[in-house]
Amino acid sequence: LLATAGVGGAGALASAGIGVGTVLGVQAAREPQERSIQFGADVEPFHGPRQAGITTAPQAHLVFIALDLREGADARSIVRLLRLLSDDAARLTAGEPALADTEPELALTPASMTVTFGFGRRLVETLSPGAAPEWLEELPEFRIDELDEELCGGDLGLQLCGDDPVSLAHARRMLLKDARPYARPRWIQEGFRPARGVHRPGVTHRNLFGQVDGTVQPTAGDDGQEFVVWGHPPQHLDSPIRPWIEGGTSMVVRLIRMDLDGWDELARSGKEAAIGRDLSEGAPLTGEHEHDAADFDATTPLGFPVIEESAHMRRARAQSPEEQMLRRSYSYDRPPAGAGISDSGQLFIAFQADVIRQFLPVQRRLAELDRLNEWTTPIGSAVFAVPPGCAPGGYIGDVLG
Ligand code: HEM
Repeated sequence: LLATAGVGGAGALASAGIGVGTVLGVQAAREPQERSIQFGADVEPFHGPRQAGITTAPQAHLVFIALDLREGADARSIVRLLRLLSDDAARLTAGEPALADTEPELALTPASMTVTFGFGRRLVETLSPGAAPEWLEELPEFRIDELDEELCGGDLGLQLCGDDPVSLAHARRMLLKDARPYARPRWIQEGFRPARGVHRPGVTHRNLFGQVDGTVQPTAGDDGQEFVVWGHPPQHLDSPIRPWIEGGTSMVVRLIRMDLDGWDELARSGKEAAIGRDLSEGAPLTGEHEHDAADFDATTPLGFPVIEESAHMRRARAQSPEEQMLRRSYSYDRPPAGAGISDSGQLFIAFQADVIRQFLPVQRRLAELDRLNEWTTPIGSAVFAVPPGCAPGGYIGDVLG
């Protein structure tokens, strides 16, 4: 695998006009890497009918980049930008240096890197007037929100995920350098999940409240992800969900601060009641194991619901077959300002075919009532339309061009 990546890398460098000395430098650097490689050479395919980084098993690290187009951007300049960034992403995720890569060695260990493109309304409408789906706009304001404008919106969202923070940092820099003539960064956030190898594949991760987070998800196969993420209504459902474009979806990003210091003051039973699940297994309070079905009708001997009316799990539970989403969230943990000892939270990222019919009803319900709101505050928000993937030689968004 690495050998293939290496040949492509040298070829790419040569075609970019980078000298033989540099190429030899890459090859010299490769030998010690080959000896130490475990999963550095793992590749997630970039090309295909759907973009990677959505149903891909979540990698350990995330860098989310939101860009604003420069004044005067038109369809031609947007196509140039998307071509450049798609080419960079295709090479870097394959373990090849980008064209004119200044640090080509850093590109040789993609470690399952994915780059997922999301488009804001302005980009879609400039590229292809009338093509933006109705849901492609800022979410309505919720009473729980304390949004910072500098952490909201963006004309282009790039979700970079991978198991190696070094190659991610490199990819981030290459993409930003190439985007510079056309777009400038609006906000950038980093996130993480457990390091690769810490758990067996498939184990649900924990967020910084210590909760098992991501248990109830639309699963692959049958109607699961096809219906929820990609918008193909199953035969037996007369569903209002329609995909905005074949192979596309939507990406809602909410930056949510988590008050770890306040959470510390809660007794364990209070923490479990807030979500409706226990902390040790992530099992519903009416069951024993993580994936046991929750019994929302069960009551205590005194007649109170075991899973409280305001428990996050009860409030977030789908009330119709449509109200579902694929959650693919990452924790963040920044140096605290002032006297605090933490500035932590979650980059909540959800994919669904239709924001209005799937995401909004759940978010509205949670904003009205959710025990978790006492310790969580949305501080950033963005909605992106995710176009389909592209074929080799194409670019993300070429179906709109
Ligand atoms: C479930 C945590 C925000 C939607 C859960 C669970 C936890 C959790 C621990 C139970 C395990 C699971 O099924 O994943 C959090 C935290 C949040 C947050 C810490 C904020 C920092 C949100 C938001 C939404 C959401 C903003 C959507 C608007 C859901 C859904 C479920 C869920 C749909 C599954 C409910 C079910 O059917 O059982 N969340 N969540 N969560 N959450 Fe959240």
